[in-house]
Amino acid sequence: MGWYDADIDRVIITEEELRGKTAELAKQVAADYASVDGLLLVCVLKGAVMFMADFSRELGKIGGPPVELEFMAVSSYGQGTTSSGVVRILKDLDRDIAGKHVIVVEDIVDSGLTLSWLLKYLESRSAKSVDVVALFRKPEAIKVPVPVKYVGFDIPTEFVVGYGLDYSERYREVPYVGILKPEVYQR
Ligand code: XMP
Ligand code: MG
Repeated sequence: MGWYDADIDRVIITEEELRGKTAELAKQVAADYASVDGLLLVCVLKGAVMFMADFSRELGKIGGPPVELEFMAVSSYGQGTTSSGVVRILKDLDRDIAGKHVIVVEDIVDSGLTLSWLLKYLESRSAKSVDVVALFRKPEAIKVPVPVKYVGFDIPTEFVVGYGLDYSERYREVPYVGILKPEVYQR
């Protein structure tokens, strides 16, 4: 039992489901990219960090193409739970991505604003191809159409935490994904 269990109202995705889905997504990507000589995974910090670790390791285990790991940090949200609509680069790519097959590894697509901006940015840096794998998507919250080739779970438009996702920088270490009790937001 973690300290956080008492703050969770309900679990929506279990550890086992996360593991199973990650393996499934890696299998699809490995099959689709079987003929390329390398893949550059771009993790969007911080929320996607657990997914990046598990997804890339799974690709390795099943014999996917060699991967390189890159990390970007952008901010579209403040401390709270609603989108500001403003995207700012907090940490840029360390290397040139020109001519590379890029996969953006995202935690969650909510309004789609962050991702839509990010895709334009990566394309402007002359990637050979850009696809997206997102562990979660909130289909009813979408504001701008954005092509997400690989989606783990479609979830309701509710704020979720765990497996990298935070509320005010907390709950990222929760091994499952869940919804917080309303009183947590009143603290
Ligand atoms: P947009 O609206 O631009 O937002 O698609 C994407 C980013 O917003 C964060 N986000 C969440 N973070 N629980 C979180 O902890 C959530 O339910 C949630 N919904 C959106 C997240 O950083 C995502 O990349
Ligand atoms: Mg956050």
